[in-house]
Amino acid sequence: MRHSVFTNRSPTLIAVLFFHAMGCIQSISCKPKTFRESLVVLEVNASIDSNPTSIDESSSVVLRYRTPHFRASARVQVSSLARKETWIVGWIQACNHMEFFNQYGSRGMSSWELPDLREKKTQAISDSDGVNYPWYGNTTETHKIEGPTKKDSKFLVSMNDNFYPSVTWGIPVSASNVAQLTSIRRDQSFTTWLVAMNQATNETIVLHTIKWRMRLHIDVDPSKPLGQRAKLLEPIAQEQPQILSQNEPIPPHAMLKPNANDAQVLMWRPTSGDPIVVIKPKQ
Ligand SMILES: *[C@@H]1O[C@H](CO)[C@@H](O)[C@H](O)[C@H]1NC(C)=O
Ligand SMILES: *[C@@H]1O[C@H](CO)[C@@H](O)[C@H](O)[C@H]1NC(C)=O
Ligand SMILES: *[C@@H]1O[C@H](CO)[C@@H](O)[C@H](O)[C@H]1NC(C)=O
Repeated sequence: MRHSVFTNRSPTLIAVLFFHAMGCIQSISCKPKTFRESLVVLEVNASIDSNPTSIDESSSVVLRYRTPHFRASARVQVSSLARKETWIVGWIQACNHMEFFNQYGSRGMSSWELPDLREKKTQAISDSDGVNYPWYGNTTETHKIEGPTKKDSKFLVSMNDNFYPSVTWGIPVSASNVAQLTSIRRDQSFTTWLVAMNQATNETIVLHTIKWRMRLHIDVDPSKPLGQRAKLLEPIAQEQPQILSQNEPIPPHAMLKPNANDAQVLMWRPTSGDPIVVIKPKQ
């Protein structure tokens, strides 16, 4: 049966061969494609899970909550590379805005802050894992391509993020565990980029830009017994991320140390009196 392929040459095959030849004539010489020309993002997805934030009151020292996950994934194809070149394709994330307030009745509030963002010294702080700068991670989050390659490659790069913090029932600057926490409010914004970066030259190509936000409001009645204190208020479901139609450039501080985890400080902001630094930044 296989001979029929040759005797019965299909018009489609001839058309494909002709088209390839035309491509070479039109571009004068068949120059090897640049990496950008070789790369196609076949599909990109971004979402926040629909489950509401869950609250855990099992500890007498802290309230814990777990927000739904932000997830981003992309299917990428890279056609054969003629040059000797190494590229990494993956996710970079930065925090653009952070409000994270824990109110203790009329006594005051504690808040996690990024001082450079708060003082508008920078518009973004890296959210790298702290090891693989500038990347968000180096397992599913990145993929390395080493040219020259003969074959096309297809791969998936994906990442996820959520918040799982502990907030003390008692005022952080006091030795007492007496529950005084009355509410938790959080509003954070992030930009997440799908990027290809040349390992030797650091040439950076932004492929997609995603914006997302996580908002949270928990009301707490500290006079109630443990297990009955906290109530999740609106928004129960999060706004869905936006994949921008026009990419945004990556600001320098989104690529460099320190990351948000190392830059954040915990402040105690009493209703009257001066603020106190409870936990200093690691860097
Ligand atoms: C994107 O989402 C669709 C629908 O859920 C799914 O079928 C597809 O595999 C996803 N693609 C990627 C790259 O994650
Ligand atoms: C991820 O980073 C760790 C720590 O730097 C390194 O040991 C490991 O080889 C990296 N893995 C990949 C797949 O790049
Ligand atoms: C690429 O970036 C890394 C990390 O910031 C830096 O150490 C290196 O010198 C840069 N290389 C070039 C060629 O700019």
